[in-house]
Amino acid sequence: MPGLLLGDEAPNFEADTTQGRIRFHDFLGDSWGILFSHPRDFTPVCTTELGRAAKLAPEFSKRNVKMIALSIDSVQDHLSWCKDINAYNGEQPAEKLPFPIIADKNRELAVKLGMLDPDELDKEGMPLTARVVFVFGPDKKLKLSILYPATTGRNFDEILRVVDSLQLTAYKKVATPVDWKPGDSVMVVPTLPDEEAKKLFPKGVFTKELPSGKKYLRYTPQPE
Ligand code: BEZ
Repeated sequence: MPGLLLGDEAPNFEADTTQGRIRFHDFLGDSWGILFSHPRDFTPVCTTELGRAAKLAPEFSKRNVKMIALSIDSVQDHLSWCKDINAYNGEQPAEKLPFPIIADKNRELAVKLGMLDPDELDKEGMPLTARVVFVFGPDKKLKLSILYPATTGRNFDEILRVVDSLQLTAYKKVATPVDWKPGDSVMVVPTLPDEEAKKLFPKGVFTKELPSGKKYLRYTPQPE
């Protein structure tokens, strides 16, 4: 079964993009990476998504995350579509976006990465690419995957939020609770003994009492 599971290494594919030919591992370098796929060029939801992604590019860059999109049309189509995306954002209709778009004309990558949406077919009856988000760590392993059907646009603020969580929890022994936002308290991971937690989190560990008497809801202010 094609596709990528958490912990899998990103395939080191070669592809043509709006910024030239790339090898994926070289493109990622030592950075974090986000790969997000689109069903087709010149489609309304995708245009709004790429517009938003372009506006948020400085935020991803601040977090050392390299962005790359994928859609199943040609580089020429992508470049022409970029003008529409920039115009949608109220900017000059230029061919350039702050990140490349991969041309996956034969859907080879979409198949390899498990991105096809069987419910959304093109005029020839071929499945379109679903809206996938893959976040890779600096070790090139898959840290997060989100899969939306073609008909539901993603929330790029949420994608930034999960990047913040992934980067925090990659380096600290914490997990982020429901609806967490940067700056909120976080949870101490269940595997960390209380004594070690006290040493590791000098700002304090606060436990919420529960009917079970089990002290597993352990909060600490977000560590630096
Ligand atoms: C869109 O991007 O608007 C779209 C693409 C494929 C199916 C449905 C919507």
